Amino acid sequence: MKKVLVLTGGGDCPGLNAVIRGIAKRARKEKNWEVFGSIEAFNGIFNEPQEIIKLTSAKTAGIHIRGGTILKTTNKSNPINFPMPQKDGSVKFVDRSDELVKKLKQLNFDAVINIGGDGSQKISKVLFDKGIPVIGVPKTIDNDLSATDITFGFQTAVQIATDSFDKLITTAESHHRVMIMEVMGRDAGWIALHTAIAGGAEICLIPEIPYDIKKLVKRIDLRYKNGRGFCNIVVAEGAKPKNGTMTSSKGEKGSEHVRLGGVAFQLSKQLKDAGCKAEIRETVLGHIQRGGTPVAFDRILASLYGVKAMELAINGEFGKMVCFKNNTVTYVSLEEATRESNFVKKDNYLVKAAKGLGITFGD
Ligand code: F6P
Repeated sequence: MKKVLVLTGGGDCPGLNAVIRGIAKRARKEKNWEVFGSIEAFNGIFNEPQEIIKLTSAKTAGIHIRGGTILKTTNKSNPINFPMPQKDGSVKFVDRSDELVKKLKQLNFDAVINIGGDGSQKISKVLFDKGIPVIGVPKTIDNDLSATDITFGFQTAVQIATDSFDKLITTAESHHRVMIMEVMGRDAGWIALHTAIAGGAEICLIPEIPYDIKKLVKRIDLRYKNGRGFCNIVVAEGAKPKNGTMTSSKGEKGSEHVRLGGVAFQLSKQLKDAGCKAEIRETVLGHIQRGGTPVAFDRILASLYGVKAMELAINGEFGKMVCFKNNTVTYVSLEEATRESNFVKKDNYLVKAAKGLGITFGD
């Protein structure tokens, strides 16, 4: 029998379970493949005893409609930059990739399918270069991978954000308030941009377009006649004013990234300081955007990715990442997969259309 190992790494994302089920179902059709899963990304391999489970049909049946990942995940076990707690309470980051490669070789898997975002696919590339038969599956609600036109989880996040935004509009109108809704998007503003168009925002702030606070106050003032009006703003967590910096909360031990969050409150203060007279309320959507049932589009895309990734494994095509390009599921090399990020460009058709709809970016 041949063996494939599946793992999910980085932040979770609606659709991960549908990928796992897609891999398992496609593998079962072959009769000579068994599917295993490593618990909590590479921790399942590092841990003693190792945590590797067999993905039987009982384990994967019906999981495509569930959010999260049955294999669990973490964004604190990057084997290339692994956080090791020190006696003095500090954390030292060490390269454990050789140790991981040794363990994976001992386990003798015929294929390893690594489902994860940018960081995870960089790990896939390192492992492949060291002789591991890896296939990548892209995952992120942020949709910031350039090798694929769209990632699963993104549509679900946009739907959740839009539903929330709709709710804020009615209360904004009743109270004549400015409502600021903060969505995820560390370096890429796709969720905010899509939500702004779908929800009919007056202002959309994204990391790629630093804003001028005075222009925002002017736009809000236009919405208030005789002191009455309302205004709805969507802001990505990584948005920043011109010549300003991102709003971060304290860093976490063992995390490679600064934790973002709180830009809605910063913006609220900046607007007040710049003379905005209207009453302002802030809502931070946070991890609600990553939870719950994936929308149909994400389940479909995730299932297609699962089937395709397994077919690459069956055909012995390693060092590739599955992707969605020009309306079809295909693949790119891991090198291409990790070459550049997908950021919103100022001349993107969505930005242009948003401006046509009267949405202000503050630029
Ligand atoms: O998946 C990326 C992301 O959604 C970012 O937009 C956000 O900054 C990050 O996850 C938060 O992840 P966590 O709180 O799980 O570390």
